[in-house]
Amino acid sequence: MSSSQTFPEVGSERLLEYLSTSVLLFDDKLRLRYINPAGEVMLAQSARHACGKSLHELIANADMVTQYLTGTLETRQVVMQRGCRLDLANGQATVIVNCTHTPVSIPGEFSGVMLELRKVDHLMRIEQEEQLIIQQEATHALLRGLAHEIKNPLGGLRGAAQLLEREVQDDELKEYTQIIIREADRLQNLIDRMLWPKNIPSMQAVNIHHILERVSDLVLVEVNSGLKITKDYDPSLPEFQADPDLLVQAVLNIVRNAVQALGGEGEITLRTRVRRQFNIGSRRHRLVACVQVIDNGPGIDEELREKIFYPMITTRSDGTGLGLSIAQSLISRHQGLIECSSKPGNTVFTILLPLDSKQ
Ligand SMILES: Nc1ncnc2c1ncn2[C@@H]1O[C@H](COP(=O)(O)OP(=O)(O)OP(=O)(O)O)[C@@H](O)[C@H]1O
Ligand SMILES: [Mg+2]
Repeated sequence: MSSSQTFPEVGSERLLEYLSTSVLLFDDKLRLRYINPAGEVMLAQSARHACGKSLHELIANADMVTQYLTGTLETRQVVMQRGCRLDLANGQATVIVNCTHTPVSIPGEFSGVMLELRKVDHLMRIEQEEQLIIQQEATHALLRGLAHEIKNPLGGLRGAAQLLEREVQDDELKEYTQIIIREADRLQNLIDRMLWPKNIPSMQAVNIHHILERVSDLVLVEVNSGLKITKDYDPSLPEFQADPDLLVQAVLNIVRNAVQALGGEGEITLRTRVRRQFNIGSRRHRLVACVQVIDNGPGIDEELREKIFYPMITTRSDGTGLGLSIAQSLISRHQGLIECSSKPGNTVFTILLPLDSKQ
């Protein structure tokens, strides 16, 4: 065996700590003897509390999995269980997992079963998010290219209309040149939004709660008293590297939509939480800031929801349909992602920002 193939001399338990798959080791009385950090996160239990307990004490509906564990202990055969639903004992979540039960036997030392749990809904989420990121990058590249191509001839058209206006004596004809100039300006504004922001983000240490306070102040001066903004902040959220102006713009676009959906009357909640060992697309991050903008407005129906992050998708007569597309692009410059879920009375936009990003 060449040296590059030699397994590094580290304790096997330490390697298990790096796995994203949950690993639980049960003894022959089906008492938990070991759980790796991924398992602790999935079951929301610390190893200290979980060890020594049976699966029934950790998971509410453990009957089926326990049956398989017992079977593996008796037959000494590896068994796979697909799409198994687990209600976690703290009652806070249900996860769908694929399970692998492997008999472990070290003569004279240990006899038991190793249980590997791999989240299925989590894998589906990664695939969907990867797809979303790829599609959006392609759309933005197309849009920016198109905007760039329109920008120059548009400048020419406007200039020519101005020259023509100087030559024309008839006021009625001047009205036509005015229309050309006005419409060219409107298009120019639209294109500037599509191409914005041009500069490389200027990264600095940012406190997300200061960003949310700025957005909330801005919005409250725009609307009258019918709007209530509730803040539910997690004070443990650390500062991270970001461009504060770009973040304000992204959050503002989302909050303004909520205000518009509410017609200025209703409640918006700004919530922050920390997520540990969390995936954004296929990249796993140790710490992720989760910022939610929640409104109790009419909601977004499913068909529209699939498209709202694309440019030019709008239901408002004066909307350009660029707000969310720009917000998504600004957040992706921070390696983050915006997701949306909605039902009448509860629309949630979730901004996920990695806290360990180097950029
Ligand atoms: N909180 C919300 N509640 C209901 N519908 C929403 C919400 N947020 C977004 N939408 C829907 O998504 C559409 C797209 O939003 P987006 O911000 O991209 O464009 P817009 O608000 O229409 O125009 P603008 O470019 O001025 O922002 C909106 O027209 C609206 O139909
Ligand atoms: Mg908008």
